[in-house]
Amino acid sequence: MLARQRPARPGPTALLLVVLLAAVARASWIILMPLRPSSPELRQAARTALHFFNYRTASPSTLRNLKDVLNGSAVIMKGEKEIKVAFSVESHRTKNLQLGTCSAQVGFKEHKPVPTVNINCTLLPDQKEREQEDYKLYEQIKQLETPPFETMIPDKFGNMDPSLQPLWELAMIGNSFVMWEKTTVTSYYYVQQITNIKKRITPDDFIALHYKVLLHEFKSQEIISCQVHLVWHPEKPSKTQYHCQDSGTQENGSGHGEGSGEHSL
Ligand SMILES: *[C@@H]1O[C@H](CO)[C@@H](O)[C@H](O)[C@H]1NC(C)=O
Ligand SMILES: *[C@@H]1O[C@H](CO)[C@@H](O)[C@H](O)[C@H]1NC(C)=O
Ligand SMILES: *[C@@H]1O[C@H](CO)[C@@H](O)[C@H](O)[C@H]1NC(C)=O
Repeated sequence: MLARQRPARPGPTALLLVVLLAAVARASWIILMPLRPSSPELRQAARTALHFFNYRTASPSTLRNLKDVLNGSAVIMKGEKEIKVAFSVESHRTKNLQLGTCSAQVGFKEHKPVPTVNINCTLLPDQKEREQEDYKLYEQIKQLETPPFETMIPDKFGNMDPSLQPLWELAMIGNSFVMWEKTTVTSYYYVQQITNIKKRITPDDFIALHYKVLLHEFKSQEIISCQVHLVWHPEKPSKTQYHCQDSGTQENGSGHGEGSGEHSL
């Protein structure tokens, strides 16, 4: 015999949720949610934290890419989300080269850019090796003839001339800063191309890089264009300034900040 369908009744979980939500509404208080590693929110938080880390570490030879999200949770408050996330990272330069794991705490305010980030990563390779690689890159860029102003990196077919790789890696320090600052709880950016590169060496031996970056916002599919000015030396604090123009709204935004140049976070 077929079982008769029972009338839907709220299960204990649903009841608990209702009670919790009522409490949240009353106290504008806090709800803690464990999230699945596949959750988009965790990935968004991990990406954001990594932009911050890459910028702060200011080591273009050891830029990190997000590999896998391991675990995490979210604390939701009124108009604000605090996400804890652990994730593994790989080398930007050598795909599939594991560079350890990171744990981060990222705070998003609704619609507001510049998420707060607290992040710790295991530091591989060791400091000596990193410094040597950064110095190598520094010397390469110093000697490199600046490409013609209209050069796009990568080109329109997505290819990158290996001789331009050092400039791309250095620019990623500035790009990471812009992407970290512009990320909100719902929007995130990819680097599409850099162009209009101007390079000079300052009297105190920093590399000063001026360039335009086109950033692609994933959800809206919008492209924004930013002028970035980055000053970098492998051993000294780096500085970034930018000014973005949003193609749709004609809105301008700008920011400036300092990377530590110090590797032991
Ligand atoms: C992830 O899991 C580890 C242990 O497996 C735990 O120590 C850590 O607190 C967890 N991190 C987050 C953000 O949930
Ligand atoms: C990073 O490490 C510092 C010092 O050990 C600690 O206070 C902080 O909570 C850590 N942050 C995260 C997100 O694990
Ligand atoms: C944005 O900046 C451009 C170039 O500096 C300027 O021409 C334009 O008026 C600015 N727009 C707004 C909305 O501030």
